[in-house]
Amino acid sequence: MSRWDKQVCPHGPLEEIGAGLWQVTGSLKRSPLPRNMVVWRTPKKSLLIHSAICLDEVSMKELDSLGPVSHVVVPCEMHRADAKAFQDRYSEATFLAPACAREKVSQVISGVEDLEEGLEDLNVTLHRPAGLKDFELHLELPLEDGSRALVMTDALFNLAGDPPKGFGGFLVKLLGSVGPLNITKIGRRMLLENKNDYANYVRDLSKISNLSVLSVAHGQCIREDVVAELIAASERIRK
Ligand SMILES: [Fe+2]
Repeated sequence: MSRWDKQVCPHGPLEEIGAGLWQVTGSLKRSPLPRNMVVWRTPKKSLLIHSAICLDEVSMKELDSLGPVSHVVVPCEMHRADAKAFQDRYSEATFLAPACAREKVSQVISGVEDLEEGLEDLNVTLHRPAGLKDFELHLELPLEDGSRALVMTDALFNLAGDPPKGFGGFLVKLLGSVGPLNITKIGRRMLLENKNDYANYVRDLSKISNLSVLSVAHGQCIREDVVAELIAASERIRK
């Protein structure tokens, strides 16, 4: 069995969540948390993968039919499980991680470039979350219909609509990770430095003009009332 096949865990379909933007919800061995990979078709018609997940061959063919993979973003040190398999498969792609995660990500793949420097030519706007420890950056992506998408990783979870099931799901709920769009209890402990600064940051993201979709790594993407959802999340963070 190849390294790729060993990495494939049960996952859902590649779903278009915006114009030239797709998401897949997958799983990870020994983790009850669902996780999302985002695929964005860049202005150069290549693909940027955010938080890579190894998919079965049928789904990978579908992904490859959308364009050539040019960039793979490993968004934080916690989301590097499938990075090596992607580097083996897409050796020509540029692999990027936030500078704060470079050391950990470089333990599994080579030639990691700083996310902070690497996406200007694709018209990506990077947001550094205020009020949080240095952990992840948020990507504002121009979509093919002129609207914008916002892609986050662990800074907000959105598991209320489709909570994980079984005993694992029970544990995740017990840990305070299941609820409407918000930072989790673990996130508050591990990442949060100033809740008002972070709440203001999330509120200000709602001012991004023509924001049509918000994707987070754990939980459903938001495509309706994104502005209201971000404002509501900012108030939950402030409590
Ligand atoms: Fe995560």
